[in-house]
Amino acid sequence: MTQDEMKQAVAQAAVDYIKPRLGQDSIVGVGTGSTANCFIDALAEIKHLFEAAVASSDATAERLKGHGIQVYDLNSVNELEVYVDGADEFDPRLHLVKGGGGALTREKIVAAVAKEFVCIVDSSKQVDLLGAFPLPVEVIPMARSQVARALVKMDGMPVWREGFVTDNGNCILDVYDLEILDPKQLEAELNNIVGVVTNGLFAQRGADLILMGTEQGVETLKY
Ligand code: A5P
Repeated sequence: MTQDEMKQAVAQAAVDYIKPRLGQDSIVGVGTGSTANCFIDALAEIKHLFEAAVASSDATAERLKGHGIQVYDLNSVNELEVYVDGADEFDPRLHLVKGGGGALTREKIVAAVAKEFVCIVDSSKQVDLLGAFPLPVEVIPMARSQVARALVKMDGMPVWREGFVTDNGNCILDVYDLEILDPKQLEAELNNIVGVVTNGLFAQRGADLILMGTEQGVETLKY
């Protein structure tokens, strides 16, 4: 199986997993990225089974609408049945690094409202220890240098994703060389730096379930 085929296989597996959980008034949270795009395309086949979706980025909202799926503002929704999204890395405890596509803040907000977080990945995302993928940190533009200095003090090597602006109008620092031994602790410490909006560690609210595409088929992982 190619990586693309794995993405399509996990996307279909996610649709099969959520289908029995959906009712006519269910709202589905939808992530961002190439794997999430495969999920959106598969979700369109069952759009008659749920009410609407909440999107974690403008790009996802556009793709959902393109399939005729209603997109609600998160503020008009009390609860999401499920949130489905990809990841850049995941560890054995289902902690994640996300934000390679820059949508981490809205992804984290939508995930926080969902009853269940189903993460869809191909096997290249599986690691023992998080941190080989540079950790994205969304920053208020005027705080970029101040946050970068604070990250250097934490032994990280921040690199400004130049020219990239998030859907929230902010910038991203990709942080290399961080030792992520305690993901929950580091997530909290990074969020405490003045000027940081969010960081791409999803440890305090990690995934509840991972559907991983492998050469042999889709594996289901829980912790
Ligand atoms: C978007 O900001 C990210 O969090 C994505 O979920 C993550 O980068 C995975 O993307 P792919 O499915 O494209 O690998």
